[in-house]
Order: sequence, then C-alpha cells, then structure tokens
Amino acid sequence: MELNRFYCGDAIKIMQTFSDNAIHLICADPPYNLGKDYGNTIDRKEWSAYETFTRDWLTQAIRVLRNDGTLYVFMGVRFIARLYAILENDFGLLFNGWITWHYTQGMGRIKGYSPRHEDVLYFTKSKDFTFNLDDIRIPQKYYRERNNMDGANPGDVWQFSHVHYSSKEREEHPTQKPEAVLERMIRASSNPGDIVLDPFVGSGTTCKVARDLGRRWIGIDVNPDYIAMSERRMAQTATLFDSFDPRLKRTPLDLPR
Ligand SMILES: C[S@@+](CC[C@H](N)C(=O)[O-])C[C@H]1O[C@@H](n2cnc3c(N)ncnc32)[C@H](O)[C@@H]1O
Repeated sequence: MELNRFYCGDAIKIMQTFSDNAIHLICADPPYNLGKDYGNTIDRKEWSAYETFTRDWLTQAIRVLRNDGTLYVFMGVRFIARLYAILENDFGLLFNGWITWHYTQGMGRIKGYSPRHEDVLYFTKSKDFTFNLDDIRIPQKYYRERNNMDGANPGDVWQFSHVHYSSKEREEHPTQKPEAVLERMIRASSNPGDIVLDPFVGSGTTCKVARDLGRRWIGIDVNPDYIAMSERRMAQTATLFDSFDPRLKRTPLDLPR
C-alpha cells in the first residue's frame, strides 16, 4: 500500500491489496445507482446487484480501517436506509451520525418536491475514535454565559452550495463534491499525518483537501480520465476551499437581559 498516490482500478480489488487496520479515516462517495454517466461504468444495476457491490466494497473498507478509525459514506435517498441497516446490523459498526448535506439550488421538479439534500452516514469501528470539535466550531448565534464563545458544534445539517458549473474550481466530473464538506470531515475525524482513503475519488476532492490539511492520502477510481483529472488537481497549489458554511460569517447577537 503506497501513500500519497492514486490507484486506477476497481476499488474492491485494489483495497484487497491493502493491509488490515491501516487507515485512520475513509470518506467514501460511491456511485448512488441513479444512472449517472461516469464514462466507463454503468451506474444502474438491479438494486440487489448494487447491494452486493456495496457489501463487497464495505467488506474491504472496514477491514483496512483501523479499530479507532472513522467511516463516512455519502449516499442518495433511494438506498440510504438499506445502507444504514447494512452498516449497523451486518457489519456491526457503531452509529455516530446521519449528516444531511443541504444544497440550496438544484433540479426543479414539477410533480413532487425538488431534491435539496444528500446524506452521509458516519460510523466508527469502536468508541475510541478521533473527534476534533475545536477544529470545526462555528460562531455561536448568541452571547450567553453557558455558550462556549469559541464557537458551536456545527450540528448534523450542513449547508454548502454545489460547486457551480460556471465556477473556476469546477472539474468535468458529474458529481464533484464541495471541498468544504470534506474539509469538515477530515478536520474533525483525523489528525495531521493520519491516512485518509477515498475508494471512489472521482475528481480528487478528498485527496486534495487531505493533502492541504497535512494528512497522508490514497485515492482510487476505476476511470483513468478521473485519475488524470485528480492528478492535475493535486498539482495545483492550495487555495481557499471552494464553498463555505454561511454560518461561519455570523456574529453572535447580544440578547437583552
Ligand atoms: C460519486 S462519484 C465520486 C465523486 C467525488 N467525491 C468527487 O468529489 O469528485 C463516484 C466515482 O466512483 C467511480 N467508480 C465507479 N465504480 C467504481 C469502482 N468499482 N471502483 C472504483 N471507482 C469506481 C466513478 O468513476 C466515479 O468517479
């Protein structure tokens, strides 16, 4: 297992070559089985086949994850309930949170509600895991004696805009995630020098953020064009993260006594 490099190939086969209990943090953003065009794979399987694929990659991911490690899995609403049950009941992981990534704009539906969120399941292997709350605090809403004025816990509903098609950070990848979403996970759930793995790295978001935050990293993708895209992205020097939580700009209000 080499660090600070991308691997091109099937995530299951590549993770099979990694040692047990080696990775501190896994941020996985697999295809959601909703028919996206990822170039050389078909993101539309029978749901039973998708479930088998999910169990197979999770078997490897959980094997390589350290006992004090953390797993985040992005998932769309069609499969997330089943994914939750697989992680908790079948793999015996410890539930730590269900994070909703709320994006403010997107496709409009005429019949039914327009989708405005994707979710992330946050599980650990044991109760001994890293959580650096001080590194992810956001400004409090109010001055109050009982409030920690260093900032509040950001909670489990995260508002970040998509990386807009017209923005200069946008890569030619259909499901590029905002760097700021990964930034919060990596700051909270790993320390500098730790190893962060993304088995479905796409345009390279997780690895770029991990590198910029002083973590070691590994990214895997089955599409060689996305590996080349990720490598180009890593060659860029660190810039500000491409999206931000609007609450970071708030100033605490003084309440009348
Ligand atoms: C949801 S996208 C990840 C997007 C990424 N988080 C980003 O910010 O760009 C899923 C990725 O999984 C890749 N993929 C699909 N099947 C795979 C497999 N079996 N092994 C590794 N990668 C795979 C696709 O090529 C696609 O880039």
